[in-house]
Amino acid sequence: MKTIIAGNFKANLTRKQVAAYTQGLEKFLESQCADSIKNHKLQVDIFPSYTALLEDNFKHFHIGTQNGYFALSGGFTGEIGLLQLQEFEIHRILIGHSERRNLLGENSECIAKKFRFYAEAGFEIYYCIGEDLQTREKGEEALKNFLNAQLANIDVSYPKLVVAYEPIWAIGTGVSAKAEQIAKTHKILAEMTQAPLLYGGSVNADNAGEILKIPNVSGVLVGSASLEMESFAKIIKSAL
Ligand code: 13P
Repeated sequence: MKTIIAGNFKANLTRKQVAAYTQGLEKFLESQCADSIKNHKLQVDIFPSYTALLEDNFKHFHIGTQNGYFALSGGFTGEIGLLQLQEFEIHRILIGHSERRNLLGENSECIAKKFRFYAEAGFEIYYCIGEDLQTREKGEEALKNFLNAQLANIDVSYPKLVVAYEPIWAIGTGVSAKAEQIAKTHKILAEMTQAPLLYGGSVNADNAGEILKIPNVSGVLVGSASLEMESFAKIIKSAL
């Protein structure tokens, strides 16, 4: 089984910083993870901001985009289209992140359109889902219904789908979900899709090893703790 370790830089790190980061990451992966990557046991992806996108031509990891509009190009101020992404050879995208749903008002219709468009373009799609605290507190049935509705919005049998379960209450809080909560939720998700299931929400170098051992967890999507290459490298190491 392949483990996926991904870093979502959000609106952090400049182009210069990402350039230095990628050089360090490439060196680290070359020296410590080359075999695992070559044997498809490990996949490493990073998602920088638009201005820091680099060509996806590294040997041991991939560059993805945090967003993309569902058009080749056109009158969509502030957005980025497939044509711009293709120039960077980018073939992976995050869709449905709770920050885009909640801060930028992306609704399920917009998310579904993005999904269809980028699936048609053959992208690897990291589809992010996860409940708010209120839903979690309502109990397991409510949680199931919530996640089911988020997955019903897309084609869960898309072959290049990766589902990232990121409970909103664990994102950027420094407190990840507990191992048994992740285990329970990933078991529910595994009944809904055969896609690899990542966990995201306050993953760091100290808790990644434990999280990666949980059944039905195929990897992690890391925010804050991916911003320093050394910390991200430690998380990658815990997957080996
Ligand atoms: P943190 O790791 O900072 O909690 O962010 C998680 C996340 O939103 C990744 O997409």
